[in-house]
Amino acid sequence: MATFAWDNSIALGIPVIDAQHKALFGWVNTLNEGIKNGVGSDAVEQIIWNLITYVTEHFSEEERLMLSCNYPGLTAHRKEHDQFVDRVQEIQAKYIDGHEMSENVLDFMVDWLVCHIKGTDQGYSRFIHQQEKL
Ligand SMILES: [Fe+2]
Repeated sequence: MATFAWDNSIALGIPVIDAQHKALFGWVNTLNEGIKNGVGSDAVEQIIWNLITYVTEHFSEEERLMLSCNYPGLTAHRKEHDQFVDRVQEIQAKYIDGHEMSENVLDFMVDWLVCHIKGTDQGYSRFIHQQEKL
């Protein structure tokens, strides 16, 4: 996987969330570099652990934000979050089990995040920005 470079096309215009999204890609890049540089399985496991912890906290914060503004798409959005966390936990379990982490796995994470931010996250972002104008 090439190092993921942030650009404004995935910015939501909600500073706290954009900062968290940047940090999230930072963890995926750290994981990618750790694997490429052969930092060892203990270090890679720690990075995966940090990534899951970060993503879980970030998703909870987004869900609190959606709840606080009565966003109607919260349930469907939360489902997508849960599915991603499940998938990353499966990846974690496989890695701990001795499977190598392929580029496909890292590409999957980046593609999922970009797609989710540009589609699903944009939904609540637009809603929040419209409410602010009312
Ligand atoms: Fe989200």
